[in-house]
Amino acid sequence: MRINSTWVGSIVLVAIIGISLWGCKKEQNVVPETPNSNGTNNGINQGPNDSSKTNGPTPYQVKIPVGFPALSAHPENPLTVEGIALGRKLYYDPLLSQGGPLSGMSCSGCHDQKTSFTVSGGPVAILPHVNLAWNSKFLWNGKIEGRLEDIMAFEVDDFFKSDMKVLAASSEYQKLYNNAFGSTEINSRRTAFALAQFFTTLISGNSKFDLYLQKRRTFTNLERVGYDLFNSETGDCFHCHGYPLMTDNAFHNIGLDSTFSGPNLGRYLITQVESDKGAFKSPTLRNIALTAPYMHDNRFNTLEEVVEHYDSGVKKSASLDPLLKKGNRVNGLKLSSFQKEALVAYLKTLTDTEFISNPELAKP
Ligand code: HEC
Ligand code: HEC
Repeated sequence: MRINSTWVGSIVLVAIIGISLWGCKKEQNVVPETPNSNGTNNGINQGPNDSSKTNGPTPYQVKIPVGFPALSAHPENPLTVEGIALGRKLYYDPLLSQGGPLSGMSCSGCHDQKTSFTVSGGPVAILPHVNLAWNSKFLWNGKIEGRLEDIMAFEVDDFFKSDMKVLAASSEYQKLYNNAFGSTEINSRRTAFALAQFFTTLISGNSKFDLYLQKRRTFTNLERVGYDLFNSETGDCFHCHGYPLMTDNAFHNIGLDSTFSGPNLGRYLITQVESDKGAFKSPTLRNIALTAPYMHDNRFNTLEEVVEHYDSGVKKSASLDPLLKKGNRVNGLKLSSFQKEALVAYLKTLTDTEFISNPELAKP
């Protein structure tokens, strides 16, 4: 699905207004760690635990892919089958936006599973919903910090301005909230919590690259060369897009511009720190072949253009990330065309077709 850019422009404006209204909300940081289920690699989700024969919601344990760190649960929002089901329904339901500035939209309208929960187009690139349970700073400039519950509260209260009365008028939702949270009360906190539970299940860790690491698939020579470049000082991508999340969840100015104004100030708009000018969140490279165009402002249409940027297009400025000007890199990577082709071939191994076709993550 393509979306019209003037329309997205006004959405982004709405988002900025929303963001500026956002107050800082502190979550408790010390949380119990959920046990890492014993790492098989075929699936994203696991069924309900047998031990739950009581009347409350059914505890649920996500399956953590091989190589991924354990996940810590929000102390007041344990994962349950019913909570995830509610979050999934809300994600796909335009009722969530009814009466608000985005009336008629569902989350999925801009975040489509087939393209790793993005859609193409617009002046601000739509970030994918991939492995965000491991993230703690959200949006391109990291405006929202905390847990999934915090970014979901922002999406519900400030971005969609969801009207809880609309949901409360639905007897079906009353039933689903009751199943998930033990009473029919419908409020924005519960709504954000349910969405956060569904988001926790949006896990991608079964790409060709993952299977290669587990010795279950082989790489072509080109992919292998690309992989080595990516992870060596020659290509030096791994510092910011390292395994397993393929992002460092941090902010960098990678030299797209040499002067900055308006939204292109990026992280600086939040921190007012000079060295954050033009810095944006490192996006995950998982499923990157599916999420063109690229960069926060969608300026590159292909992975070849992205690699060319790192090779020869990096623009200097005072806030340029030190990694992009160190050593022999000061005048670009100077890769051969074979090496550039290899990097692109490797990036394409990060596609997880199971993730984008998993029926458990699709519209219910
Ligand atoms: C009109 C299009 C649109 C709709 C509808 C939409 N989003 Fe987004 N979403 C975006 C854009 C654009 C961004 C990136 C914005 C930015 O970072 O400034 C984004 C970013 C996000 C992020 C941040 C991801 C990250 O890596 O930091 C999350 C989480 C998110 N959206 C969740 C949702 C949820 C939940 C809904 C439904 C309540 C939703 N979105 C509906 C366009 C949309
Ligand atoms: C200093 C940290 C850093 C290094 C090193 C780095 N990247 Fe990035 N990468 C980022 C950031 C930050 C962005 C987003 C920049 C923006 O939009 O302003 C990004 C964006 C990308 C994107 C586009 C992602 C999207 O969803 O739009 C790709 C693809 C990419 N990088 C690949 C690479 C490759 C390949 C290398 C090695 C040649 C590399 N990166 C090295 C930090 C880095």
